[in-house]
Amino acid sequence: PVTRLVDRYGRTARDLRLSVTDRCNLRCTYCMPAQGMDWLATPELLTVAEIARLARLAVERLGIERIRITGGEPLLRRDLEEVVAAVAGLRTRSGGAVDVGLTTNGLGLDKRAASLRAAGLGRVNVSLDSLEPAEYTAITRRDRLEDVLRGIVAAQEAGLSPVKINAVAVAGALEERAPRLLAESLRRGWQLRFIEHMPLGPHETWRPQEVVGRDEVLRVLAEAGFRLTEIGRANRRPATLWRVSAGRGAHGSHPEGVVGVISSVTVPFCSDCDRTRVTADGRLMTCLFSSRETDLRGPMRSGASDEEIIELWAAATWGKPLAHGSDEPWDAPDGFERPARTMSAIGG
Ligand code: GTP
Ligand code: 5AD
Ligand code: SF4
Repeated sequence: PVTRLVDRYGRTARDLRLSVTDRCNLRCTYCMPAQGMDWLATPELLTVAEIARLARLAVERLGIERIRITGGEPLLRRDLEEVVAAVAGLRTRSGGAVDVGLTTNGLGLDKRAASLRAAGLGRVNVSLDSLEPAEYTAITRRDRLEDVLRGIVAAQEAGLSPVKINAVAVAGALEERAPRLLAESLRRGWQLRFIEHMPLGPHETWRPQEVVGRDEVLRVLAEAGFRLTEIGRANRRPATLWRVSAGRGAHGSHPEGVVGVISSVTVPFCSDCDRTRVTADGRLMTCLFSSRETDLRGPMRSGASDEEIIELWAAATWGKPLAHGSDEPWDAPDGFERPARTMSAIGG
């Protein structure tokens, strides 16, 4: 019988990313066009019961230990607390609680942090690319910086910790933006991670020669006066971490802390990837960049047994690609396969 999700390269999935909606209330330029996308109709979305079933099979039968709820923007689902409650009650095969996290843009989090915590949510990762209001508005096409900051504070007050901040290292004015984000994160007790821009948005928005890589981020931070010591990657997490010593830089004094870089493009971590993902409409994707999707919703809705679902999941996992291809030679910018969907439709 199938008891684990292994692929032919020997990787085992222990981390499930569940997208619960493809909709979003921001329009980050690297993610979607100004007019938004063709959203899925509500009946296309997995119901709470369907999400709960997949999560239960993943945790109890397939050895998944961590679940991250993503979107689109997951807070746009009014029944998100029910989703959280359904997955947070699961026990891993070793008897521990599942680690349940949420990745959000933070809009509306101020009103729901406490109810999500009560439903069993462990922690949140909040997207925040800039602390400069005009720049935030230019990147997200919405004037909502204050709402996000309120959401982060509410999350901290609700005990959703540590709060991690995701900042895509978009090109331009990094010398201003990155040190300011780090200084503020250290002062406020957020764990900041810079993310290299991946080719997962509208096709014309990604150019390999414009990717701000990990080395450039580190150089900019060091030049701004931050003293960094590499810690490394923790337990197959995507972020490589650096310890930041207490000090004073261009953006004032700060306590010590940690900063991460998710270097998906320049130093990919595909070789020890432990992820499996399900889209909001119930398609299994073994990799963010996979062009192959496996429908789990159809079989669920036509009466498939737990065993049949597990078999489908395991069979698809066996065919997981070795790597994503965006690390291919950069003089061939279009030489790799882009997935059929963009990030917001896959789940970030
Ligand atoms: P924790 O480490 O558990 O806090 O979460 P995380 O960093 O895995 O999750 P989060 O949703 O905050 O993801 C942050 C970023 O990691 C995403 O925006 C992606 O850029 C990157 N990422 C997440 N999953 C994958 C993946 O499967 N492949 C690649 N290449 N990048 C990923
Ligand atoms: N490359 C890298 N990160 C991206 N995100 C969205 N699109 C991309 C992309 N093309 C980030 C969001 C969010 C996280 C889930 O993914 O900003 O923080
Ligand atoms: Fe929304 Fe996230 Fe895409 Fe921004 S990156 S538009 S917050 S889904």
